[in-house]
Amino acid sequence: MPQEVTEVAEAPSQPSAHVPVLEVEGVAKAFERPGREPFLAVDDLNLRVDDLHGQGELICIVGPSGCGKSTLLHLVAGFDTHLPPTRGSLRFLGKPIVGPSAERGMLFQHYSCYPHLTVLENIAFGLRLHAGALGITRKEIHEVAMRWLHMVRLQDSDAGKYPHELSGGMRQRVALARCLALKPRCLLMDEPFSALDEPTRLEMQELLVNLWSEIEATVILVSHSISEAVYLGDRVWIMSGAPGTIAHEFTNIPVPDPEVPAMTAQSESRFLEVLRTPRAEILPILADGSGRCTPVKEGA
Ligand SMILES: Nc1ncnc2c1ncn2[C@@H]1O[C@H](COP(=O)(O)OP(=O)(O)OP(=O)(O)O)[C@@H](O)[C@H]1O
Ligand SMILES: [Mg+2]
Repeated sequence: MPQEVTEVAEAPSQPSAHVPVLEVEGVAKAFERPGREPFLAVDDLNLRVDDLHGQGELICIVGPSGCGKSTLLHLVAGFDTHLPPTRGSLRFLGKPIVGPSAERGMLFQHYSCYPHLTVLENIAFGLRLHAGALGITRKEIHEVAMRWLHMVRLQDSDAGKYPHELSGGMRQRVALARCLALKPRCLLMDEPFSALDEPTRLEMQELLVNLWSEIEATVILVSHSISEAVYLGDRVWIMSGAPGTIAHEFTNIPVPDPEVPAMTAQSESRFLEVLRTPRAEILPILADGSGRCTPVKEGA
């Protein structure tokens, strides 16, 4: 079941030029194991994302399997399976993260649509759940949901379909529309496109780039693809494992041009040149998930 059901509706926070959107300080998470020592999944996580209001920032995380990427996203999402952290603190727009919030949307790798609801009902789900807090009428919910149906490039004829009638890419569009309809200040995406075939994945990357001006949010996206991370990200965080921590950050990555198709952009020599340094630095970390890497110099 998608996690929105348990969301706690909060009054939207006011933007502030000084309060960071996300602050993670000294965070560790150990999972209890019956009859065994707790397992330390992530440790010493220190992150800060500034609130670029009206613009947002897209941060991609890459790292070896099991290094704690999902654990980090789930902590930020405020899932009760992960809170509180074993050590450290997490703050969103200056307030401690104590549970899920409509301001922090989450998109999972496996398309989290409600199977018994139509496409339009799925998109409207969060809006209906938070209608009271948002102060919107049924008519407005319908209008917003229809608008997002079109924004994710689905057709009017798709509105009444059920998830089992849709392709994987279409289902992920529905899940994306459901998150974005709530205008979250932060969108957490856990390998959102990795279950899709290559052309559909590129199409979805392109859609995300095109929706960027509408989203105006901080996006933190976990990817297993270095090309995807470098193409989409303003910053790329590289996690190393055992226990997971941020080993390095790449900044100053060129912003993708919404006019250029993702496939074309990612085969241009300019992009391949930008990709060269992160690839050379990240591949050894991905290959060696067990140990911490030595810090690498900034590139790209
Ligand atoms: N609820 C839990 N209880 C016990 N161990 C957990 C729990 N959740 C995660 N772990 C462990 O914590 C570590 C990090 O898991 P996590 O899912 O965050 O990794 P990941 O980087 O997202 O991996 P992947 O790339 O395969 O998705 C793993 O060793 C995992 O087995
Ligand atoms: Mg994961």
